[in-house]
Amino acid sequence: MRFEGKRVLVTGAASGIGRATALAFVAEGAAVLIADINEAGLQETVAMAGSAGEQLSPRRFDANKRENCFALIDACGDQLGGLDVLCNIAGFAQSRHFADFSESDWQNMLAVNLSAVFYTCQAAMPELLKSGGNIVNMASSAGLVGQAYQASYCATKGAVVMLSKSLALEFAARGVRVNAVCPGGVNTPLAHNFSLPDNVDGKLVERLFPLIDSAEPEEIATAILYLASADARFVTGTAFPIDGGQTAG
Ligand SMILES: NC(=O)c1ccc[n+]([C@@H]2O[C@H](COP(=O)([O-])OP(=O)(O)OC[C@H]3O[C@@H](n4cnc5c(N)ncnc54)[C@H](O)[C@@H]3O)[C@@H](O)[C@H]2O)c1
Repeated sequence: MRFEGKRVLVTGAASGIGRATALAFVAEGAAVLIADINEAGLQETVAMAGSAGEQLSPRRFDANKRENCFALIDACGDQLGGLDVLCNIAGFAQSRHFADFSESDWQNMLAVNLSAVFYTCQAAMPELLKSGGNIVNMASSAGLVGQAYQASYCATKGAVVMLSKSLALEFAARGVRVNAVCPGGVNTPLAHNFSLPDNVDGKLVERLFPLIDSAEPEEIATAILYLASADARFVTGTAFPIDGGQTAG
């Protein structure tokens, strides 16, 4: 029960890693605002929590606009009475030959996978400074090493790593920790629906695959909860690979 009395926001909580993370926080006593564009999925997450579902507050959230990010943090004030932990997990992947990314592909990827992380961190920081809280941002192994045919995804995830490190430095002495997690392949709808474009060079995509099996979303949640907990008091600015060795060499 490391999070008894703690107020947590998890974006992307209608599915996959975000859902597993929200359920893990609730199991350890937190009150969690769960936010996602997929409202039906949020209701499923609440149902999966069983009797602890009352600790979950679902809220529809489209990460693609700055104003939505600020409104989401306001909702944490209204519904949870403040914020101790911000987990930015919402995101999506997209694979194209470089020449085939349209302007809207690029803008949407930037908005959801990067700008929303920037804005929620900015909006939440005053609350986190009050509570001595912390942030865990979802990056990826694609934020640590390049991946062919995923230029826009890698660009956003690499930027999430550097955003997290920069905020960690700026706020360390003021008591707010900021970390990123960098999973490799995780068994979620995002991974199941992922497909490469036609005519790719197979050799270039080998490094996409971890050396051992995929992770389960609960295994990523375990790492997120550690980073968000008091056990990680001295951990800030890390980009923690959880990738079966994919980025080790
Ligand atoms: N699955 C993997 O292999 C893997 C590996 C590394 C990193 N990640 C990252 O983990 C995060 C979660 O992915 P997942 O694998 O659980 O996938 P998922 O598809 O199961 O979950 C992603 C969630 O984000 C939500 N989302 C997407 N766009 C949104 C928007 N505009 N506004 C609000 N919510 C939105 C979706 O509705 C969904 O519930 C993503 O940021 C992803 O990039 C996943």
